[in-house]
Amino acid sequence: MAMIAHKCKDHAVTVVDINQARIDAWNSDELPIFEPGLDEIVKGCRGKTLFFSTDIDTAIREADIIFMSVNTPTKTYGVGAGRAADLRYIEKCARKIAEVAEDDKIVVEKSTLPVRTAESIKRILESNSKGRKFQILSNPEFLAEGTAVTDLENPDRVLIGGDQTPDGLAAIQKLVDVYATWVPRENILTTNVWSSELSKLTANAFLAQRISSINAISALCEATGANVDEVAHAIGTDSRIGPKFLKSSVGFGGSCFQKDILNLVYLCEHFGLPDVAAYWNGVIEMNDYQKHRFGRRIISTMFNTVSDKKIAVLGFAFKKDTNDTRESAAIYVCKDLLEEQAQVSIYDPKVTEAQMRRDLGISEDDPSVTVCADAYEATKDAHAVLILTEWDEFKALDFKKIHDSMNLPAFLFDGRNLLDLDALRKIGFEASGIGRGEA
Ligand code: UDX
Repeated sequence: MAMIAHKCKDHAVTVVDINQARIDAWNSDELPIFEPGLDEIVKGCRGKTLFFSTDIDTAIREADIIFMSVNTPTKTYGVGAGRAADLRYIEKCARKIAEVAEDDKIVVEKSTLPVRTAESIKRILESNSKGRKFQILSNPEFLAEGTAVTDLENPDRVLIGGDQTPDGLAAIQKLVDVYATWVPRENILTTNVWSSELSKLTANAFLAQRISSINAISALCEATGANVDEVAHAIGTDSRIGPKFLKSSVGFGGSCFQKDILNLVYLCEHFGLPDVAAYWNGVIEMNDYQKHRFGRRIISTMFNTVSDKKIAVLGFAFKKDTNDTRESAAIYVCKDLLEEQAQVSIYDPKVTEAQMRRDLGISEDDPSVTVCADAYEATKDAHAVLILTEWDEFKALDFKKIHDSMNLPAFLFDGRNLLDLDALRKIGFEASGIGRGEA
């Protein structure tokens, strides 16, 4: 919404939320999320074309186009628990719009939703329509965290799905016009609603599948003496495969991949396609395997015990340049180590201590975890260092200094293949990465 407000000077964008604290934060100097470049954009157009408010009713009444951007977490209860998307917030939004709107509206699904959700939204709106006309569009978001601003500025494509009726096509055109302010028209794709909804889940499933595929190969590399980064480079130069999303890691995280694949799996089962469901579920299973495999390797390398050993964890976010920890592989690795009674000391440049403790399910005063202000404090007297997020600043650390402050042998496990292992070995580390077999 900030990008639309930034690019379309003749539109007013009002972002509303029921959470007063969050809206206050968006109106303050300290925005509630860290995202490179976002501060400048928000501060540049706030109060001019971009407004943040908790007055939901007024915003709905005044809007021509309403974007529904509420969260759709994996259901934790009832039918489909652990897999299906929880649509209660979406439904509440739809009911609110039906209750408050005084004239015709275009309602845009921005949240990632199961296929055919637009139909439910439409039914809720139409059964309460009182003569008003609602058009439902699907406009999934493909930005990635950490690069959101550049992704929005130069999207590979914008996807808009809508009814293929005259009213539906007119609504699509209205939204096309908004994006066409800065996105080349040929990069704005229009489809029917279902294709658009399904494309979002499929895009995320394909991206995650590439990571699980290269991670599967990383295990084989370790067993055979191949180097997964060399394999990834070699296959990535095939123009049919391409080089992106082939970086082997301790496992993918983030708020989307797992949730969307689980959702896809659930949909397949719902539509009586168990083989298709099992195929996609394999992507999640491989990711779980990769996260736990990393922990197991640490333990076996460290003489089969990490009990009472200090393990320094560098990086807790699910990837660099974000403070987001949702589904971060670091959570799983730390939990596995805590289970083995390790003493874990964590440093991340952006994630707060409170967030880490919440993610690990431990209290403020639980002594098994220490959160440190920098990497040197975290690694002092440690038996092992783990790299779990690929923050650039970790490449610039003084590893000689770190080595000299550690217990020997000093182990280093690079879960992101970020560092130069040969250089670390020269310093004296027992260093290993992902998918790097010793030939
Ligand atoms: C993803 C999609 O990229 C985006 O299009 C969609 O809109 C939302 O979901 P995001 O979750 O922000 O975006 O992050 P992304 O960059 O895709 O990374 C996801 C996870 O995969 C991270 O944990 C990352 O470290 C990991 N990853 C990514 C790898 O392990 N290897 C890779 O080659 C790429």
